[in-house]
Amino acid sequence: MNPSPDNHLAVDARNVTKSFDGRVVVNQISMQIRRGEIFGFLGPNGSGKTTFIRMLCGLLQPDHAEGTCLGFDLLREREKIKRRIGYMTQKFSLYEEMTVSENLNLIARLYSIEQRKKRVAGIIERMGFGDRRHQMAGAMSGGWKQRLALAACLLHEPELLLLDEPTAGVDPKARREFWDELHNLTASGITALVSTHYMDEAERCHRLAYIAYGNLLTHGTLNEVITNAALSTWSVKGDNLSPFAAQLRILPGIEQVVPFGEVIHVTGSDRAALRAAVLPFLEQPGLQWEETATSLEDVFIYLSQTQARDNFK
Ligand SMILES: Nc1ncnc2c1ncn2[C@@H]1O[C@H](COP(=O)(O)OP(=O)(O)OP(=O)(O)O)[C@@H](O)[C@H]1O
Ligand SMILES: [Mg+2]
Repeated sequence: MNPSPDNHLAVDARNVTKSFDGRVVVNQISMQIRRGEIFGFLGPNGSGKTTFIRMLCGLLQPDHAEGTCLGFDLLREREKIKRRIGYMTQKFSLYEEMTVSENLNLIARLYSIEQRKKRVAGIIERMGFGDRRHQMAGAMSGGWKQRLALAACLLHEPELLLLDEPTAGVDPKARREFWDELHNLTASGITALVSTHYMDEAERCHRLAYIAYGNLLTHGTLNEVITNAALSTWSVKGDNLSPFAAQLRILPGIEQVVPFGEVIHVTGSDRAALRAAVLPFLEQPGLQWEETATSLEDVFIYLSQTQARDNFK
């Protein structure tokens, strides 16, 4: 039985810290992930996501950590944790010169999975590989390769999936299908921690966390993350917005100007000051202004820039 004091939590990690060569890359991160949820993990390149994931699954020894993963102590019971986790690494790690079926059989042997043939056949069926079972892994599209990597993670029936950028470089349709599959899996009781750089994927998570420079900057549901940031945003459309953006950027009350295609988002933490800053431009010909909802991406950019400024103080 699960020895966790709180059985609702698949992960209850506190103050997880790791340094490399004297540099802190994961700084006292605490994270609670409920069983059966998809938890999104976001942050710029080099912010510490992979390092954190590797500590959660027992592959990397933290300098400091308290708490549990699947009810087992993060520091003292790493072997027990490893056996119950499916870890999908950031880089494709299966054999390109082997078929789908050969790859899965090999993994099943490595894990000493009982009833190997039956289990592999079941996964092939369940993940829709029927017609492709004899195809070389290397000959498949990026989307199918990632699906195969996911299938390999599922063979030993893990309770928790740690998926490190599982859809990087995969086309939008395959990404959607991957996420549909993920939702099916969590509906059947599996828990998933998924790192991603895609905002649409972040929005499909039950809850999410954002880190930068090794620090946890925010976490919660999509709505909580946006509400807690307490930002106001205006969008402006028009021609030749680049020079205008530069002009806006230096005005008091405007803390962030970000282009999104043909629209610019203008954001600040003081709604009245922001309004006063944009007011003189509202009637300017050729511009269409609108006070708009702050997006998740606005929040992440804001938080990481604030953190960067704090680091240089
Ligand atoms: N084994 C290691 N030795 C030294 N430094 C490392 C090691 N592993 C990671 N780092 C450093 O730790 C920091 C965090 O890296 P990490 O790979 O965890 O970031 P990430 O958030 O996963 O980035 P990305 O989005 O690019 O995958 C980086 O500065 C990286 O260079
Ligand atoms: Mg990474």
